[in-house]
Amino acid sequence: MMVEEQMIGSLAGRIQQELATLSRYSATEKGVTRLPFTKEAEDALVCLEKMMREAGLSTCRDGSGALHGFLPGKSDKLFIIGSHYDSVVEGGAYDGIAGVVCGIEIARHFSPNTLPFTLEIVAFNDEEGVRFGGGFLSSKALLGELKPAELKNYCDADGLSCYEAMQRSGYDPEKISEDAWSVENIVGFLEIHIEQGARLYQAGLPIGLVTGIVGMRRFDIELTGRADHAGTTPMNMRADALTAAAAFILTAQKAAKERAAPDVVATVGVCEVRPGTVNTVPASVHLTLDVRSLDAAVRDEVVAECFAALRKAAAENDLTVKTQEKLTVAPVKMDEMLMARLSEAMTEEDISYMALASGAGHDALPIARRLPAAMLFVPSRDGRSHCPEEYSEPEDFARAVQVAIHMLEDWSEAL
Ligand code: GLV
Ligand code: MN
Ligand code: MN
Repeated sequence: MMVEEQMIGSLAGRIQQELATLSRYSATEKGVTRLPFTKEAEDALVCLEKMMREAGLSTCRDGSGALHGFLPGKSDKLFIIGSHYDSVVEGGAYDGIAGVVCGIEIARHFSPNTLPFTLEIVAFNDEEGVRFGGGFLSSKALLGELKPAELKNYCDADGLSCYEAMQRSGYDPEKISEDAWSVENIVGFLEIHIEQGARLYQAGLPIGLVTGIVGMRRFDIELTGRADHAGTTPMNMRADALTAAAAFILTAQKAAKERAAPDVVATVGVCEVRPGTVNTVPASVHLTLDVRSLDAAVRDEVVAECFAALRKAAAENDLTVKTQEKLTVAPVKMDEMLMARLSEAMTEEDISYMALASGAGHDALPIARRLPAAMLFVPSRDGRSHCPEEYSEPEDFARAVQVAIHMLEDWSEAL
């Protein structure tokens, strides 16, 4: 076996083991469920802290529940590598956390004070936004874009706000942005992540170079009508909240499908009906809407069409509508200079890759608006993600790590 293959093999073995260890920090047996500010999130952080220290990094936590590992370089300028350690409900063992593990492996390769900049490896908290409806909690806090009072508007299914959940976990929400980065001190950001789609897998390519990330808008919607007897209330005397919800859901699908842009997608992922019984007219419905596109104008057209349909159906059914926009992020392009450096490293490593845009959100999305940012994708088997079946080959992560190391070494030599 060639030395290079042996290196990839042992790196892949370690990454696989680390990911298997971390996958045990889950609230469910089925897949991985690691929501922000829970016991399993805290346990995963303790484990990551240990892994970072063993790799030679000094560590600290910030006010948002992110973990940072540092490898000092020849200057205080920072190159940051990271991804998130939270997961969706019954998700996989790779989304987010694999990028943190890869970051640790990149840092492990270097000796202190050899790179021209300090390496900072970050495990971001609450990228997914599934518990409180927001997302990008740590990345936005580190960019200084979150105000403590906002955290009171984000509530979980039990009505507990992110502000309160932080207090219960021993964090002071008033200090969420106290550890914000000085962005002028950062030379670049890299996130390694699974593709979560099937393009690389179908093409049989080990790496994707991300060109841009879709812009997203997320909403919480509350439709309120009136509970009535399902047997005795004539159809024209009802205020049925679910009927309007159905019109809204179908419009979301139609509006996105009709657009020429293939990257535009609309999803209603939550539909909670109250009282939710067979013989009562639905009194209220809680819905969510998630709309994405690389073109912000197309995304906004779809959103407008959905809400026009909702208002019409609400008026016809005598309902009141309350909506809250929980997340708005503009589409971004990745940094040309970092992409060129990564592309060169892959050419020198003789690795074939594909340039592609991301339909999934990533911490790199808010970060790329403020810093030079790049992403490498690793293929997802059958394109599956946000489910327990999610799987990527450890060798592909090892290759992405090798590419990042190669890029950092070339960059150092050029300075
Ligand atoms: C995060 O994975 C998202 O794209 O919703
Ligand atoms: Mn995800
Ligand atoms: Mn992710």
